[in-house]
Amino acid sequence: MPIRKGVIPAAGLGTRFLPASKAVPKVLLPIVDRPVIQYAVEEMARAGITQICIVLSHGQGAISDHFAPAPELEAVLEKAGKTELLEEVRRTETLADIFYVQQHRPLGLGHAVVCAADFIDDEPFAVLLPDELFDPKDNFLGEMVETFEVEGASVVAGLEVPHEEICRYGAMAIEDLEVEPLRILSLVEKPPLDEAPSDIAIVGRYVLEPAVLALLAKLPPGALGEIQLTDALDILAREGRLLGKLYRGRRWDAGNKQGFLRANFDLAAERPDLAATVADLLGRPVA
Ligand code: G1P
Repeated sequence: MPIRKGVIPAAGLGTRFLPASKAVPKVLLPIVDRPVIQYAVEEMARAGITQICIVLSHGQGAISDHFAPAPELEAVLEKAGKTELLEEVRRTETLADIFYVQQHRPLGLGHAVVCAADFIDDEPFAVLLPDELFDPKDNFLGEMVETFEVEGASVVAGLEVPHEEICRYGAMAIEDLEVEPLRILSLVEKPPLDEAPSDIAIVGRYVLEPAVLALLAKLPPGALGEIQLTDALDILAREGRLLGKLYRGRRWDAGNKQGFLRANFDLAAERPDLAATVADLLGRPVA
């Protein structure tokens, strides 16, 4: 069955960006001139996903405004002959069919996915964490979808991280790093450094069979007292039903200030109108 549906959990409080994220949801902060969540929706669209459910929390209505038609703005742009901007604005409205559900309490990533259960409705689906920004030129999620279709098993994205950072992620125990797709033996969420089974982290891209929802529904709270998606996928892994794909492209953790700044500089450097400014600021040669 082709993957048509995707879930983007976006309900986080964004405390690392306060006070900027007090009134503006963190995922609406811009990387160059697009909000973080638009990169996530565009990546899903590139992978062939046509229906997207964004999981929100209270006070995040501006996210749905961003993807909704804006007839007054469009009329002004049209009248002023600002055709390119008009096209950019219209593009945000037609990337996919976007639906919204509320996660009323911050009970974890697994819980956020359960909030989208009615939308998922027993179909395979993708999950994309918007803070994990992958190179917009890549279509890694599309490659994961292909692996899901060929192998008939759920797939998660992995990335080798420095050993001292693995405790911030879900970590994979893998049969053989040389064989791709990776056969994942088990997963553990935020392991203490000396208990991490490898330095391969889960990095926010998942293509999942719908059975994951039933597993999530039965889970007790895990790491940090939250319902962890990793714990449900650990059950799949132990049954030999979970594959991994290593991402080797550029990736930024836009959920912290350092990664967010780097993403802004790196992606601005690729824009013809901004490259010279970035080069000037950083003393880099113009790309
Ligand atoms: C979540 C997942 C974790 C994954 C990480 C990637 O954690 O639970 O398995 O490695 O995203 O960014 P969070 O960053 O929400 O704590």
